[in-house]
Amino acid sequence: MALCTSICKILRRGKYFLLLFLTLSVLAWIATFSGDTFKSIQFSSATPQTSVKDDTLREKLIVATVLAKNVPTVPPKHDCPKESPLLKGPMKLTFESSLTLKEVESENKAVEEGEFEPKECNARQSVAILIPHRHREIHLLYLLHHLHPFLQRQQLHYAVYVIQQAGGATFNRAKLLNVGYLEALKDYSWDCFIFHDVDLVPENDHNLYLCDKQPKHLVVGRNATGYKLRYKGYFGGVTALTKDQFLQVNGFSNTYWGWGGEDDDLRIRVELQKLKIVRPPADIARYTMVFHKRDSGNEINKDRMRLLGRTPRVWKKDGLNSCSYKTLSIERMPLYVNVTVDIGKPS
Ligand SMILES: *[C@@H]1O[C@H](CO)[C@@H](O)[C@H](O)[C@H]1NC(C)=O
Ligand SMILES: *[C@@H]1O[C@H](CO)[C@@H](O)[C@H](O)[C@H]1NC(C)=O
Repeated sequence: MALCTSICKILRRGKYFLLLFLTLSVLAWIATFSGDTFKSIQFSSATPQTSVKDDTLREKLIVATVLAKNVPTVPPKHDCPKESPLLKGPMKLTFESSLTLKEVESENKAVEEGEFEPKECNARQSVAILIPHRHREIHLLYLLHHLHPFLQRQQLHYAVYVIQQAGGATFNRAKLLNVGYLEALKDYSWDCFIFHDVDLVPENDHNLYLCDKQPKHLVVGRNATGYKLRYKGYFGGVTALTKDQFLQVNGFSNTYWGWGGEDDDLRIRVELQKLKIVRPPADIARYTMVFHKRDSGNEINKDRMRLLGRTPRVWKKDGLNSCSYKTLSIERMPLYVNVTVDIGKPS
């Protein structure tokens, strides 16, 4: 008797499995001929051929079929086009002395805490704009005024970080940019980093703030130099490196205090890695340099030539991996993230 019950059970179960298999085949067959998967399942499950009694099994079956067919929900956003339809080309920039931060904020309502993402498509890259800063409020205002609409026309997902050096020690642009890189990566895994001087404003939105397979130099010309490259090999002002490229060269050196040298140091690091600097065409990579006197606290670095000589020996130990600093505050303003940092002073 006991033997019979277990055999009968197995037989009954086998029947159910056969039925299940048949139902699945029929469902799959119906699904291929019907656009509306869900309806067809409901229809077929109501007919007598689905004699699967086990309700949970049947539910599982329906769920599995629905998942397999990937029932359409919201239509997927497409990737943004290679060339944004919003670009305007060369523009005559204006710098109104009456401009206020409130005005710039109200012109950029879609920016939140310095960050923007296009609604109409998936941005091709996520880009962090890093701006080293101290006592340059008016330049920062002009830059934000032009840069936010410029980046939005390029359909980028981006955020603007202002890295403010605290205290009165000599300015160190390169170390502030290392800090910006490290701090921005705590917010998001950015694909691309733009290292941006505060006093350079791009004139043509075809100058794309995207990273390339090679490190990119974006300032071929500026009004102050008659729109010519300052010198052969110049790699300053505005540069674009991917997260990985910047890591590969161990970032900037931390040892350049005062004006000059740190950008040549970065070029040497790039060249030591056998990377090749690329530039957009000269008629596109144009900037306006907003006039200013040399700041106090950013005197010419007389030591820069000596420092450049030792770069090939020290780059592995001096850079991102040795950048020590103390974050004093992170303020999330409407148009930028203000990272205020104590980076010490020259030894
Ligand atoms: C470049 O243009 C800016 C803004 O118009 C102006 O302040 C600056 O003096 C110009 N520089 C030169 C060298 O013409
Ligand atoms: C950044 O924050 C510091 C500390 O609160 C403040 O002194 C400085 O003015 C801020 N800078 C900018 C550009 O908002």
